Amino acid sequence: MKKIEAIIRPEKFQNLRDELFTIGIGGLTVTEAAGTGKQKGQKGVFRGTKFEIQLVPKLKVEMIVDADQLDDIVDLIIEACGTGNVGDGKIFVYPVEETIRIRTGERGKEAVL
Ligand SMILES: Nc1ncnc2c1ncn2[C@@H]1O[C@H](COP(=O)(O)OP(=O)(O)OP(=O)(O)O)[C@@H](O)[C@H]1O
Ligand SMILES: [Mg+2]
Repeated sequence: MKKIEAIIRPEKFQNLRDELFTIGIGGLTVTEAAGTGKQKGQKGVFRGTKFEIQLVPKLKVEMIVDADQLDDIVDLIIEACGTGNVGDGKIFVYPVEETIRIRTGERGKEAVL
């Protein structure tokens, strides 16, 4: 099992969600987020005072998936959320030790899908 955490442009979410449910995933969690990447916020000066535009709104989309699905889903996210411009976001992948469906006690792959 893998956890995919994608930081994406909020306006790309609807497109991503539609694509994800077409290929079939068990579920997802979305959190409103804000952050900076390589550009480190845009610094400037306004009327003699330095300012920094630090945080850009993003959505954090988290999914636990079977390892077999990982590459397909990563490709799908890149396709659904990319514009080719800076700020398209990032995808982080983590190992997942266990998933348990509370209702049934199912574990592992059965609990994910
Ligand atoms: N190294 C990181 N660690 C944690 N979060 C990150 C990291 N890099 C980017 N993010 C998150 O992803 C969001 C989008 O990042 P962004 O796409 O601007 O990355 P980037 O490295 O600057 O790439 P690009 O040059 O394409 O903009 C950031 O606002 C931040 O929330
Ligand atoms: Mg950036």
